[in-house]
Amino acid sequence: MIENEEKLDQIIEDFKIEQGTIIGLMQDILEIYRYLPEEALQKISSELEIPLAKLYTLATFYNSFRLEPVGKHHVCVCIGTACHVNGAPKIVDTLERELKIKAGETTEDNRFTLETVNCLGACALGPLVTVDKEYHGKIDQGKLKKLLKKYRED
Ligand code: FES
Repeated sequence: MIENEEKLDQIIEDFKIEQGTIIGLMQDILEIYRYLPEEALQKISSELEIPLAKLYTLATFYNSFRLEPVGKHHVCVCIGTACHVNGAPKIVDTLERELKIKAGETTEDNRFTLETVNCLGACALGPLVTVDKEYHGKIDQGKLKKLLKKYRED
């Protein structure tokens, strides 16, 4: 049995009644699980007669969809040009070492997911890190340690 199955059933029922879009349906699933679990996609595929391959194609096409579970805190390091020249690679190295994961992975305790992105549109703040969409600009090793301490305890 999949976690939060009642909510998933409700989403499927709403979709049938409202004739919504598949993207909207997948966004609703994302709100429940914070990623797209395989079991949820399979259930949608069979109950709504949408080919599973189509769901996976959409899931991999749009960056906002994830097929893997995400940690409680989503850490994203900008590695765009402006952030890169201001030290982003060292920030990524430190985070990978401290969290014991590579970019794109989630810690074993599901506390952190680390990702990199190419430009967050605030280049003057580089190097820039976001944690749960909150911007932390001009990040250095000292600020990074404080950030990690804060979110490790949260
Ligand atoms: S390059 Fe990092 S915000 Fe633009």
